[in-house]
Amino acid sequence: MAHEKHRLSKPFDSMELISQPANPLKCQPGELLSPVWQLRAGANLPPNAALRKAGGEVVTVIADPVPANCCLELQLQLHAPEFEGDVVQNFVFTSEGEVLKELSLVLCIRRSAKERRAEAHPDLGIIPGSHTRRIYFGKLKLDTDLPSSESIVAPEVITTRGEDDWQLLDEKLMPLPPQLLQIFGPEAPLRFSVNGEEKAVPAHLPLTMSLAEYLRYELGLTGTKIGCGEGGCGACTVLLKAPNAKPRLANACLRPLHSMQGLEVTTVEDVGTVEKPHALQQAFVKHNASQCGMCTPGMVMAIYGHLAKGGSKQPQELQGCIQGNLCRCTGYRPIHDAMKEAAALEVTCSPAKAAAPKPMVWFRDGSLWFDCTSLKEVFAALGHYASVPHRLVVGNTSTGVTKYYPPHPNDEPKVFINLQSVAELRSIQRTDSGLTVGAACTLTTLIEELETASKERQQLLPVVEHLKLVAHPQVRDVASWAGNVMIAKTHPDFPSDVCLLLSTLKAKLTLIDSAQKTEQVDVIDFLSSKLPRNDPAQIIHSVTIPFPGAETFLDTFKVMRRHMNTHAEVNAGFLFEFSGKDGVKVANARLVVGNIEHQPFVASETAKALLGKDLDSVTIDAAKKTLQAELKAHLAQPTVPEPPFVVVDPQYRLNLAPQLFARAALRARRARGLALSASEASAAEAPLRPPAEGHQHFTVDSSTAPLGQPLTKVQGLDQACGTAQFVADAPLLPKTLFALPVLVQKLATLQRIDASECLQVEGVHSFLSAADVKAIGASNAMNLAYHGKIFADAAEKPEHLGQFLGLVLADSFEAARTGVRLVHVEYGEEVEATVSTADGVLKGSVQERHGVLSIGTHTPGTKSLQGKISSAGQKHFYLEPQTTYAYTDCNGGLIVNSSCQVLDLAQTQLAKTLHMPMSKINVQNQRLGGAYGGKAMLFAPGCLAVCIAVLKTKRPVLLQMDRTADFQAFGARAPFDASWDCSIQDDGKICSLKQEILQNVGTDMMGFSQASSVNCYNLPHAQLHCKGVITNLPCNTWMRAPGDFEGAFIMEAIMEQVARAVGREPVEVQELNLDEAMQKAWQRLKTKVSYDETLKSLKDFNSKSRYRKKGIYCMGSRYKLEASTFFEKAMVRVHVDGSVQLEHTGLEVGQGMDTKALQACAMELKKIAGDFTMDKIQTQLPKSTKDFTWRGVTGTFGSLTSETVVSAILEACGKLQKEMQPWVAAGRGWQEVVMLATKAGAELTQAGVTEKAKVHDYMLFSAGCAQVEIDVLTGETQVNSFDLVYDCGKSLNPAVDIGQIEGSLMQALGFSLLEEETRGKDGRLINCGTWDYKIPSGNDIPVRLDVELLPCLKPDAPVMGSKASGEPAQLLGGAFFYAVKDAIGYAREELGLSRVFRMDPPASPSRIQTFCEQ
Ligand SMILES: Cc1cc2nc3c(=O)[nH]c(=O)nc-3n(C[C@H](O)[C@H](O)[C@H](O)COP(=O)(O)OP(=O)(O)OC[C@H]3O[C@@H](n4cnc5c(N)ncnc54)[C@H](O)[C@@H]3O)c2cc1C
Ligand code: FES
Ligand code: FES
Repeated sequence: MAHEKHRLSKPFDSMELISQPANPLKCQPGELLSPVWQLRAGANLPPNAALRKAGGEVVTVIADPVPANCCLELQLQLHAPEFEGDVVQNFVFTSEGEVLKELSLVLCIRRSAKERRAEAHPDLGIIPGSHTRRIYFGKLKLDTDLPSSESIVAPEVITTRGEDDWQLLDEKLMPLPPQLLQIFGPEAPLRFSVNGEEKAVPAHLPLTMSLAEYLRYELGLTGTKIGCGEGGCGACTVLLKAPNAKPRLANACLRPLHSMQGLEVTTVEDVGTVEKPHALQQAFVKHNASQCGMCTPGMVMAIYGHLAKGGSKQPQELQGCIQGNLCRCTGYRPIHDAMKEAAALEVTCSPAKAAAPKPMVWFRDGSLWFDCTSLKEVFAALGHYASVPHRLVVGNTSTGVTKYYPPHPNDEPKVFINLQSVAELRSIQRTDSGLTVGAACTLTTLIEELETASKERQQLLPVVEHLKLVAHPQVRDVASWAGNVMIAKTHPDFPSDVCLLLSTLKAKLTLIDSAQKTEQVDVIDFLSSKLPRNDPAQIIHSVTIPFPGAETFLDTFKVMRRHMNTHAEVNAGFLFEFSGKDGVKVANARLVVGNIEHQPFVASETAKALLGKDLDSVTIDAAKKTLQAELKAHLAQPTVPEPPFVVVDPQYRLNLAPQLFARAALRARRARGLALSASEASAAEAPLRPPAEGHQHFTVDSSTAPLGQPLTKVQGLDQACGTAQFVADAPLLPKTLFALPVLVQKLATLQRIDASECLQVEGVHSFLSAADVKAIGASNAMNLAYHGKIFADAAEKPEHLGQFLGLVLADSFEAARTGVRLVHVEYGEEVEATVSTADGVLKGSVQERHGVLSIGTHTPGTKSLQGKISSAGQKHFYLEPQTTYAYTDCNGGLIVNSSCQVLDLAQTQLAKTLHMPMSKINVQNQRLGGAYGGKAMLFAPGCLAVCIAVLKTKRPVLLQMDRTADFQAFGARAPFDASWDCSIQDDGKICSLKQEILQNVGTDMMGFSQASSVNCYNLPHAQLHCKGVITNLPCNTWMRAPGDFEGAFIMEAIMEQVARAVGREPVEVQELNLDEAMQKAWQRLKTKVSYDETLKSLKDFNSKSRYRKKGIYCMGSRYKLEASTFFEKAMVRVHVDGSVQLEHTGLEVGQGMDTKALQACAMELKKIAGDFTMDKIQTQLPKSTKDFTWRGVTGTFGSLTSETVVSAILEACGKLQKEMQPWVAAGRGWQEVVMLATKAGAELTQAGVTEKAKVHDYMLFSAGCAQVEIDVLTGETQVNSFDLVYDCGKSLNPAVDIGQIEGSLMQALGFSLLEEETRGKDGRLINCGTWDYKIPSGNDIPVRLDVELLPCLKPDAPVMGSKASGEPAQLLGGAFFYAVKDAIGYAREELGLSRVFRMDPPASPSRIQTFCEQ
């Protein structure tokens, strides 16, 4: 179908004004107004028609083209100025430079409230400090013609191959040769047991299919979630049992299905059910330890498994058992609380049924899997296939890691040889002099053996502790040490802890070849030499670890960005052998440093220089210098690794190694009985983290019960039992296809897509691209929910790397994944990418949204200060990646299950793009596995691609993005560059502030969020300007407290700079500038943390401690909640049996809305009959666009949906109360009232909407104080405490609200200390998964977290006095960063360095260490 581009069919002059707002518009100062004009154009309007202020500033842009005669709605969001009087505002509506319509609005502003507000602001605009986060979706009505699709220039797609091309394809393996058939064959079904039931695996499933996908999509056991597919999040945790062995934890996403022969697997469904929950699952419910619930089954399994293994119940170790599990919602505190109950639980696991392992083979689509039981079988298989890409499988966990390093041929194996049951490789021998451990032994076994040995040789303890920092229990329980060594060999940049430790211990590897000949080699020699030497089938047999002698001191280090489940920034091991029993004369030394460049480096020159010397301070200082010189020489040319490695500052790595050496040497001196000076003692120690604890304080008003009560979440048990369904958990319809996108890898025009090899993969069904969009007559441009193309086309260069260019459809995700790898794309000439904000500015790609906001008039100060701060992007890291499952209904319409935050927008977008009536499209979901703003617009490409696939194939299609693809394809919280110029008085009072913020919005302004702010400060004069910069990053978008968080963070940088510049404590300067309305929260916080005494004792500590410094920072937040812009609907149906069905338009994203909605409904229905109970109410799921007319409903974001949904419920229930009133009588129960009312024909289904007249905007004030401790030598941070005081009004549910507050605080902690998108020069995202992008873990949270909800004596919020909890606390999390800066300041002061210095977030170890020194 040929489509023409939009063209104007008639001149513009036929723009008709259909309706306009009241004019003059009466309002109060500062009031938020939403005037609406309705216009109709007689001609097609091209995209980007704009409404501008008369001065030229763009107010809103209608990004999508508008067909002739369509009604166009222009809704403005603006605040009236803060003064009384009349203001005339003129606007012009323009297109392509032509004025289409002039619009004029007179505001008649009269003050009615006495309350004091911010200074008058001379223009229509936004009150600085609060932000309008209006989402400017072009409001296109589909009540007339649907838009015709644009012309699509589809790239050529090759789907078949000519005869000559065949040899280009990887050769597929032929079925088994007879010798091997004799040993392994014939093929028998793979059998193993799942939750006690034996399963025979169907023969068509790919060899590389994971256990997780099998459980979920073949058995329907969807409690096992897939959050990352690379062992990084723990959502897929299961328990494995083998005969005669302890149970083991495992990541089902890394576990190949075909490695399961004879094993037993326990999933969360077997731990307990909703009907019969396990005590652990009940503890999760009791402590509200789940929010979105996506991580919850994995958490339950990790703890259950720890107990089943007989793991320690000491609080520290118990908290550590979720080392491999991430939660993005809760902030872990309630999970820790639930775990405390686990200490009282006993979990017994019946032993696995004994069945002797036997050799087996499976052959699938040209690949082979061998299960071996002896070395003879291993070498028989290797004898044939050693030269073919192959993998010796033990845990298969390397697949979660190796993709981050340059590829090795064996990364794409055709042959798998399973070593797990090879007895010779599992043997362990301990002698007096050492330990020999077989190559198939797991890391857990190695730890246990060393732990046992350490009882007699304490020196081994650091090695044990270090090994416990390798990965996490789910990996360590199944992964072999030898597999780790082999990753380091095949991917030399991998910072292996295992190799480092073995090398430090002078361990020797034993290799064995097919003739059973063995040879012993040094670990470093093994890594560097071209082994196997003679026999291509040579493998690792075992390792022999000599025990350190009595006069030996051993220490090892792993410096990490995050405290758990993280690879090393630098790791190091130091072994000192001393002459004789006393003293510190070095007889021998071994110094090994990792992650400097390639494999671990043995610093032999430094070791030599130590020989015969006393390890005193002179020797240590000299050795530090020698070591640094040696490392420098080793590097020859220090390299900053290019993608795909994450960049750890090379200078930091060079600095760190000598510091670690010094620490080890000092500890050695102390261990040998020598006294250390106070400064030395401080250098020798690292902060020790005690178990985390949390405290919550709130008051409860029982008069509104059950509303206002701290009830547990209604979906908690479903979540803990794994039965809470997310989009990808729906029972799959027959013939469902699994889809994964192919992403653009170069910023260049697509020339040809060769999908022929992909289409050869067994199980791959088809490949779709822009050509298919064209073929079904849909548009390729989205331009509503998201601006861009569904699939990159050949006409223009892609807008960003990671854009979709096609979709592979297959019978399983695994087949689709293989297919995606085999789609080859030819690109035209690459163009230079615009990546940074600075690049964008140079190219002139700067766009305005709000213009300059100004408060007050210029007031001169005594000095002026300038400063800058920048941040990288922050990923949403919703645990459930973007997901859509769509299929056709019986009327040819589409049912689209989408993990999106805005159902109606998705429906409109689909209708518009697919050219279908909205009535034929039903968009729905039950819950989202986290969103935080990331699913408000980013859902669109996946959702549309899936619907195109459904329409093309006429089959159901499920897409769940892989974590890496999700990271690459979609934007994040936008990076910013902020600069300021302020004039101050000598005491730190700010007189005037000029702030300029450039936000790197990526390809489009759509996700722009106004980030200029004075937060909670009252400045006499401020000029705030925030602009967007268009670049080639994926379109960045709203993330929790968008703009507000950045604004507060930047404002605090200014405040901190002013305080340092005038030599005062930040608190003193903050108080000089604080908004009066902040006082209540601020003073309460200061009392709560005993600020003055705490500061004094902190200073005292710092004065005595040279290498550990503490820091403290208080921060306030003023947050405006624009409740009046929110609108929701609800319907309450009372059934004849007294049960109640509640429908509403809010989506459950983990914020506990459905719980609050039930509480509100129950409170109201109790007024009809006192015996009404909440359990009678059922929330209607899924929420779906077919249930309501969603017109006007706000998406679920901005923290306000819970309140506005409650408002709608109150209205619906109010109507019910009226309807049922005639039958209400004292002593009459609910059942009876319902029966009588029903009999009388009363209307017992009532609808309600957010009561616009009653819902007004409100302010929320909160304050928090972070206390941290940094390790000056390494740059690592420990957050000792966070105290938070929050005005939640009359909380609808304090337990739920505190969960939200804590969760948002932890996302801010991530921004402040850990998270940063790192990109290459071409815009490629370098840290694109859990291996390199680190969100906080359970060990990063404050050791003590105290949250207090302020008592609410005079409610001032519109819905039951409740104030929002989802976002405002996020602003306080900047305090983590500034507390670290405070601590660094103390370290700098001691060296005579200034406390005024610029540091950008996050406060990573490398930044901290660097700023402590220079
Ligand atoms: C989430 C995560 C976090 C991690 N964190 C860390 C960390 O902090 N520090 C760290 O050091 N490591 C870390 N690792 C790496 C982890 O230790 C390794 O993945 C694991 O030890 C590999 O063992 P495996 O048995 O699973 O190997 P597999 O994946 O089964 O095999 C890996 C490779 O070893 C080869 N191989 C296996 N056995 C032999 C043998 N006997 N002879 C020759 N070749 C053999 C295979 O052919 C294959 O190429 C992490 C891994 C993951 C997934
Ligand atoms: S899905 Fe397996 S660890 Fe994340
Ligand atoms: S509840 Fe843990 S990720 Fe959402």
